[in-house]
Amino acid sequence: MHSYPYTITISSEKGGVGKTTLATNLAIYLKAMRENLPVTIFSFDNHFTIDKMFELKKRDEDSPDVHALLMGAKAGEVVQTGQYGVGFIRSSTELGDIHERFKGPMTLTRMLAESGISGIVIIDTRPDLNILTQNALYAADRVLIPVKDLPSLENCKNIFALFDQRGIDKKSLALLPCLIDSRIKFEGIFKDQKTLLRAIAVNRGYRCLDSYISKSPKVESLNTNPEGKIYPILTHARGTEVHGQFMDITRDILRSVDTTKETRACLYHTWLLEKEANKKESYLARLEGLAERCLICGTVLAEHPDDRSFYFETSDRSSRGFLHGNCVSSMLCSALYGLQENDPTFVAARALVADKVTRSVSLLLPRIDSEICRLDYRQFSMAGEQLLQKNVEMPGFDAGELNTVHDRLYLLLNEALAGFEGSLRKESWLSVYPVDPGNPEAVLHEESYKSIHRLQKHFAEAIVPI
Ligand SMILES: Nc1ncnc2c1ncn2[C@@H]1O[C@H](COP(=O)(O)OP(=O)(O)O)[C@@H](O)[C@H]1O
Ligand SMILES: [Mg+2]
Ligand SMILES: [Zn+2]
Repeated sequence: MHSYPYTITISSEKGGVGKTTLATNLAIYLKAMRENLPVTIFSFDNHFTIDKMFELKKRDEDSPDVHALLMGAKAGEVVQTGQYGVGFIRSSTELGDIHERFKGPMTLTRMLAESGISGIVIIDTRPDLNILTQNALYAADRVLIPVKDLPSLENCKNIFALFDQRGIDKKSLALLPCLIDSRIKFEGIFKDQKTLLRAIAVNRGYRCLDSYISKSPKVESLNTNPEGKIYPILTHARGTEVHGQFMDITRDILRSVDTTKETRACLYHTWLLEKEANKKESYLARLEGLAERCLICGTVLAEHPDDRSFYFETSDRSSRGFLHGNCVSSMLCSALYGLQENDPTFVAARALVADKVTRSVSLLLPRIDSEICRLDYRQFSMAGEQLLQKNVEMPGFDAGELNTVHDRLYLLLNEALAGFEGSLRKESWLSVYPVDPGNPEAVLHEESYKSIHRLQKHFAEAIVPI
């Protein structure tokens, strides 16, 4: 079975609020408290704290990093097993050019969903809301926003606004008071920093965790030592209040992990797969309605599948199918130039017509009433711009006669547009699109069919009824 990660993003537009300390230590506490749960961490920042903390051996410049992940490398190739059993992806200083690729907000969610990473993924972000941070926010089952003071609380509103703009449920977002100095006391009901921050947060409609993290000189000292290492709180600051607070937060997170049936990555992936399946279904449905024969020569196409060079569709979509290249160009050669097959110039003229018609869309619009009986023939560029318009008289057509010059045209119009009692369906028309004879069905795939659909709509609007 495919596995999906539960994703936790640590984010704040403010630097120095304790994001990286929270992200890295949370990874270690999660792993320590749930040994068999895979935990993977990476950062979009370029300070290499994660590398310094989790690297088992000296930095290997060639091993893949976050940049490789974002360029589409498989998770299995980029996640390394690190210290304390935590998986990590090496940081990168080269994420500047990635922003171009990350135009969509859900790219990272898709990457994580397809990565096969299981357990928990923790993403440490830069102090900004660039497209990478946004991707990390939308991918998260939990967003922890450290706030240490009023300015950092002030800044949260941008994260909440992002979710509002995109209409995304904000239930994943929660503030966490960090770097709380317990020596600071106030008079009145807001007796200390964390109570004050929480009160203001709640007042603004932000969810705030019950836990918080105190400011501790011991914790602060963990990244300043002669070895140039960064030590974890779990192993090097066990005696502090912060240790207990991390245990609380970790327990809280494990509870949500246990009660989350479908993670964001899983939900998004399921949605993507459904969308794909729908596309496939519509494609199959489109294939089903196709005419069995080439409506010009009457040959069963399954028996003579070569030279299916055109796709036609009527304005009411009730008749659709493929036509032979030769049939279409012969038909137009006669219709536009009045030439019959035994004319000496026929072959040369047909080659000319074929050249034009394989690079444009033809619109065949019969104009028939008691006074006139003719075909309004038009050619359009693939962009929908009209290139040519020609009126073709159709003697005897309304009387149901065939005509040696126009017999192919009459056949096509009658077959495609026939209504009741020998007359054509009122105000109906058909258009003929060139397709790749090597793979004519490709025209019915979602993307190419969309452009046909657009052109059909455009024609319907451009046509002036008689
Ligand atoms: N609980 C804490 N007590 C004391 N100092 C802390 C604590 N958490 C983080 N720090 C220190 O605060 C500074 C900023 O922390 P950091 O995690 O790098 O924040 P950010 O990632 O938001 O920039 C670092 O020097 C770090 O050692
Ligand atoms: Mg940081
Ligand atoms: Zn044919």
